[in-house]
Amino acid sequence: MNSSAEPVLNIRHSNISDAEQIYTVVRDAFSREEEAALVAAVRQAGEAVIELCAFLADELVGHVLLSPIRIEPHVDLNCLGIAPVSVLTRLHGNGVGSALMGRAIEEARGRSVDAIFLLGAPAYYQRFGFQRTHIGNEYGATDAFLVLELEKGCLAATEGTARYVSAFSDTGV
Ligand SMILES: CC(C)(COP(=O)(O)OP(=O)(O)OC[C@H]1O[C@@H](n2cnc3c(N)ncnc32)[C@H](O)[C@@H]1OP(=O)(O)O)[C@@H](O)C(=O)NCCC(=O)NCCS
Repeated sequence: MNSSAEPVLNIRHSNISDAEQIYTVVRDAFSREEEAALVAAVRQAGEAVIELCAFLADELVGHVLLSPIRIEPHVDLNCLGIAPVSVLTRLHGNGVGSALMGRAIEEARGRSVDAIFLLGAPAYYQRFGFQRTHIGNEYGATDAFLVLELEKGCLAATEGTARYVSAFSDTGV
């Protein structure tokens, strides 16, 4: 029996009624509007493949979005990008981001995704198995462009540039 008064973190798929709270959480996490607008634009375009929300009691405190990544020139792999991942600023450092990442990876695995890309701090994301990749990206990032191959070795013989869906360039993120 859980006798603790600490609220339990609950993660579930988002639904349309979460949209307003998600916007608030993403804006708070990044201290600006752009990423929140990006999430709304990706969803509006029907390109939110996996979208998860974290709740403490009834409060939406974290969010993660995964959308398709295309590797150009055409590579026939099922790839997703994690972006953005957001946790309410006042709750940073309490494990919410890690719990969202873990669940996102699990969900992607369940959908037979070959590889997940992200742009972020290697010191944080390497704990989930992300590593530097030889695959290029449209942002010209080097050390910060990371991959997790769920299908081990799937990118070994692949060259190319990873592209996020158009909402990323449209919103300037
Ligand atoms: C990044 C973020 C989602 C992490 O969520 P969180 O709930 O604070 O993360 P956790 O509590 O699970 O993990 C905290 C750990 O991550 C580390 N961490 C967080 N952001 C980091 C960063 N940018 N670089 C390196 N380490 C980072 C913390 O130092 C801490 O390390 P420790 O476990 O060794 O003490 C959250 O800080 C956030 O919303 N940041 C603003 C938005 C953002 O930058 N998102 C990522 C890019 S899309």
